[in-house]
Parts: sequence; structure tokens; C-alpha cells
Amino acid sequence: MSQAIHTIQLAGTDQSFSCAENDTLLRAALRSGIAFPYECNVGSCGNCKFELLEGVMASCWPEAPGLSDKDRARNRGLGCQSRPTGPLQIKLRTSDKYAPQFPPVRTAAKFISSRVITHDLSEFSFQTELPLPFLCGQYALIQMAGIEGPRAYSMSNVGMFNGETQAGNLIEFQVRRVPDGKGSAHLFDHLKPGDHVEIDGPYGMAYLRENIERDVLCIAGGSGLAPMVSIARGAFLSPQMTQRKLHFFYGARALQDVCGLAMLETLPHWSERGTYQAVVSGASETDNLPSDFMRGFAHDAVAQTFGERLQQMEIYFAGPALMGQSLLKTLIDLKVPMDQVHFDQFY
Ligand SMILES: Cc1cc2nc3c(=O)[nH]c(=O)nc-3n(C[C@H](O)[C@H](O)[C@H](O)COP(=O)(O)OP(=O)(O)OC[C@H]3O[C@@H](n4cnc5c(N)ncnc54)[C@H](O)[C@@H]3O)c2cc1C
Ligand code: FES
Repeated sequence: MSQAIHTIQLAGTDQSFSCAENDTLLRAALRSGIAFPYECNVGSCGNCKFELLEGVMASCWPEAPGLSDKDRARNRGLGCQSRPTGPLQIKLRTSDKYAPQFPPVRTAAKFISSRVITHDLSEFSFQTELPLPFLCGQYALIQMAGIEGPRAYSMSNVGMFNGETQAGNLIEFQVRRVPDGKGSAHLFDHLKPGDHVEIDGPYGMAYLRENIERDVLCIAGGSGLAPMVSIARGAFLSPQMTQRKLHFFYGARALQDVCGLAMLETLPHWSERGTYQAVVSGASETDNLPSDFMRGFAHDAVAQTFGERLQQMEIYFAGPALMGQSLLKTLIDLKVPMDQVHFDQFY
């Protein structure tokens, strides 16, 4: 059934965009090339807040944690959760850094297959009906039948490169099974090859910067493997990056969680340009870890390994919020310029 489409006017500017009733303000704005600030796209971070000045809207998730009671009382909404029910006028401060390189596309996608990576992490491959160009490190939203709200997952394969699609319409995610998680359980337990989902993307600002003449450091923790693998794959494919080294740190809780190296070792010239370091935080002194593994947390391991040399690196990271906060603090303490640090927090 076709949906009513409404005009959304940005107050105090000559900018407006169209938004269907079954779309959200944030995603429709990005589809029109409007630089609407955001991060998680799933109602948690609060970066997509705006103020409603005129008109009536609805919320996909009224209890979303990204909006406080004070915000609600002030007529504020979350761009990623708000749907128009008529024309709107909103107050929003756009920021050029959010302008999409590829406008997000909403498309049906067929589940092809899954592959086990560790005891709780698997790779899921989909074929999208429409082309969905993306940059290494970006994420997409998967809407699954019977699950309230979409889930954000980062692509692990390489999308657009040198102006060409590398993957055809193939899109791959690496997902961790979350205890009692509805979306991840659906992927692991219910989805059968041939089943369809809706995929909407790409989103995210933590994409590979190919034209920067610095060595690359990727730090992945737990479920943050996919975007870092995608960045590494892109960095080894890019003709602009052949002189760049890439260091990959994987932070795991236990030995059984360690992964990633097998995917990296297959990259051309990995042994000359790449290094991999596993860091295990939950191992006891008596646990037998391979001698080249480090013990402790990823943020301490990178500080210990590189110290102030981090100031000369382009740094990407992905994983649990706690890891992200510790890493950011470490990088700030070591005076790493923040424009060299790229991440989208996982919620
Ligand atoms: C940018 C980003 C990238 C990510 N990339 C990955 C990745 O590559 N691999 C990976 O394993 N995980 C990734 N995640 C985490 C992933 O999106 C899920 O949060 C995780 O899989 C748990 O989902 P779940 O459905 O199993 O758990 P649940 O506890 O059922 O759901 C948690 C998630 O669903 C959303 N949610 C819950 N209820 C509603 C509702 N009523 N309406 C709308 N939304 C709702 C929440 O915001 C939260 O994100 C990423 C998250 C973000 C924000
Ligand atoms: S709450 Fe909307 S982008 Fe995070």
C-alpha cells in the first residue's frame, strides 16, 4: 500500500524534504542529502534530537532511551524514531559532516546463508534487491518480521570502491548472539535461506578514509569485528593505501572469543603490511593463552604497544560502549587529535 508523503520544512532555512508516513525524519532527510546529525539510528544516543515547531508527528518507539522526559516536555523528538502524520516544521541544526556520500536505500533482501565464526558470532549473507552502495566501516538497519524496531549491523564486506561496486548486491554482517536479544535470536534461530528482510542503509560516519597518509589502527571488541574487518579489507584493496601499515587489535573476554585473524591473513600482502594482536580480558593467570596474546583490555594494550606513536595513526574502533569510553579516554590522555579517531558507538 502506498504511503502518504509529507513535506518537512527546516525552520529558518530554505531547506525542506519529503518524508513518507512509514519512514523516519532522519532517514528521509539523509535520503534527500540533508545533513541531519545522528549516530546510532536506533533511539539510544540522542544525537538526532530536533524540536517540533508545527504539525503532528508519531513516534515508532515512544519510550526510546535517547529522549528524556524534559525533552518530551519541550516538544523535542528523535529523528530516527519520529514519523510525520502531516506536514511539519522542525528546528534542527544540520552539520556538513553528516552529509551522506551515498543516500540510504531501503530494499528487500534475501537471506542466503550463515557461517559460524566463534561459539556466539556468525556471519550472515544477504542479497539485496536494489543496489545498496556503502563505504567500508558503515552499517545498515535490518527490519525483521515480527521484531519491533530495526537492528543496526555493520557490514563486513567491501561495498563501493573506486566508484565501483565490489560486492554486487551482496551484503554481509557479523552478528553476536546476545543473551535474551530478540533481533539476534531471530537471525540465529529463525531465519532460513530464501527468507526476506528489509535492509536500509548505508549509515555511519566511521568509514575508511583512503586519502590520509597515516598508518591505520583498527580496534575491535566482541561484536565490533565486522566494521573493522571491512576497514581492513578496504585498506588492503585501496591503490591509495599501498604504503600504509595496518595494525588490528581484537579485544575478547576469553580465549574462545578470539577471532578475526583468519579473515585478515587472506588479504594480499598481509604479512608485509598487517599485524594482528589478540587481547584477552577475562583470562586468569592459570589459563594457558598463546604466548603472543596480551592479557587485559584493548585500550591498555594499544597504549602499551604504541604510546605516543598513536598520535601519528588514523584510528578506527567498534565494539561495546564501555570499551569505546575507555579507549576514548586513553586516546585523549595520549593527546591523539580527535579528527584522526573514527567510531560509531554500538548500543
Ligand atoms: C551503529 C551500530 C552498529 C552495530 N553493529 C553491530 C554488529 O556489526 N554486530 C553486532 O553483533 N551488533 C551490532 N550492533 C548491536 C545490534 O544493533 C543490537 O543492539 C544487538 O544485536 C542486540 O540486539 P537484539 O535484538 O539481539 O537485542 P534486544 O535487547 O532485543 O534489542 C536491543 C536493540 O534493539 C533496539 N530496540 C529494542 N526495542 C525496540 C523497539 N521497541 N523499537 C525500536 N528499537 C528497539 C534497541 O535500541 C537496541 O539497539 C550495532 C549497533 C549499532 C548502534
Ligand atoms: S537516538 Fe537517533 S541516532 Fe541515536
